[in-house]
Amino acid sequence: MSTPSPAASTPALTVGLLGGGTVGSGVVHLLAEHAEEIAIRVGARLEVGPVVVRDLDKPRDLAAGTLTDDPAAVVDDAAVDLVVEVMGGVEPACAYITAALERGASVVTANKELIAGHGTALRALARDKGARLEYEAAVAGSIPIIKPLRESLAGDRVRKVLGILNGTTNYILTRMTEEGMGFDEALAEAQALGYAEADPSADVDGHDAASKAAILAGLAFDAEVVASDVTVEGIRGVTATDIAHAARMGYLVKLLAIAEERDGQVGVRVHPALVPRAHPLGSVRESYNAVFVEAEAADELMFYGRGAGSLPTASAVVGDIVTAARALRSGERPANGSAVARKPIAPFAEVWGQHSILLDVADQPGVLAAIAQTFGDHGVSIKSVWQEGGGEAAQLLLITHPARQGAVAATLGSLRDLDVVRDVASVIRVEGGEV
Ligand code: NAP
Ligand code: HSE
Repeated sequence: MSTPSPAASTPALTVGLLGGGTVGSGVVHLLAEHAEEIAIRVGARLEVGPVVVRDLDKPRDLAAGTLTDDPAAVVDDAAVDLVVEVMGGVEPACAYITAALERGASVVTANKELIAGHGTALRALARDKGARLEYEAAVAGSIPIIKPLRESLAGDRVRKVLGILNGTTNYILTRMTEEGMGFDEALAEAQALGYAEADPSADVDGHDAASKAAILAGLAFDAEVVASDVTVEGIRGVTATDIAHAARMGYLVKLLAIAEERDGQVGVRVHPALVPRAHPLGSVRESYNAVFVEAEAADELMFYGRGAGSLPTASAVVGDIVTAARALRSGERPANGSAVARKPIAPFAEVWGQHSILLDVADQPGVLAAIAQTFGDHGVSIKSVWQEGGGEAAQLLLITHPARQGAVAATLGSLRDLDVVRDVASVIRVEGGEV
């Protein structure tokens, strides 16, 4: 069945873009390619107006719109009904979005850094001005997760969110696990495939995932959470040995973003973690992203898909454009949203979790007893122990029961002081339950 054509008399709305790069060109393409369906869904045609770029001479593939290097053509011109910010960075993007909202224009953005730092103020401004601020693409690209947390789960209580929110690091860890590839080689592949940020340290050191985690935590727990509230550790320290030990125990190493609320405190962190191979997040390979939500009534949910790329990200942006355009057509006021409060952020030392600890040890009588005693002294319970190798190459791999991060840190300090422990070779947290 073909799509019915919108009536010739269908009114038009003008969409202006700040940015015409990877995501911007995808947005322009989708608005042209899906124009008829979108016009029917909105009750108005969406026409691409000015597209602001930095370099007018750069060759680019834009299906519609008028290129300009003057941001005022989008930000200040009342003829632009909807403003789409896909230029990235905090400034001048924040100033442009603020100006557009000030004149009452609704804004759609894909900018995680900006929303993680200034989301609360921008949402308040949008509400005051009767405009919408939508940002589905800012977290996990194509995956619908902002609207599900904000709207579909609004009657539930979210307990915990676990996310694979960075495609570059998931790709690197997948290649290291499945192909035995080194970190540098896998990163070079991820860059060649266009997954990595311009500066890949934002990916591998966990900061890209931290911005996304802050946004999800804020929505899940009605809290104001900014990127600097997130405890971050990237994947540079993950070794082939960690991955091999994890595999032998039935785990995979993943870079996880974790947000939970406990005793009125919100804890948000990004770090490598062992995830049971059979956990739904264990099936998330290569550059794919996923968000696993544990909610009181809904129980467990998983949202999976492409976290980046021109058309996948544009799909989420255009979905938001349709939302904003429908509201403009119907005259609907933006919803009040949550009364967001600054909740206490749990210090990392107070966060509970299981840990996998690899120790280089002397292979002699009494070593295991001394190590077990040290864990006991700090109130950290051991769940399982394996010995690998012997003599000078002896290693002990221990998995703890859930314990406070602070108690585990103190245990590690005492273990380092034991004569029989040559080195604490690695410490990786364990998430997602039992293998
Ligand atoms: P990009 O390819 O680098 O495109 C950025 C665009 O903005 C370019 O057209 C650039 O102009 C323009 N621009 C940048 N700074 C400008 C300035 N000061 N004044 C005028 N124009 C400016 O970036 P992108 O990958 O499309 O990402 C855009 C946003 O989407 C970012 O916030 C990013 O985090 C987010 N995002 C991207 C993806 C993805 O897969 N790429 C996924 C999810 C979210 P020139 O073309 O002239 O340089
Ligand atoms: N560099 C990011 C990633 C792109 O690898 O997931 C989307 O933010």
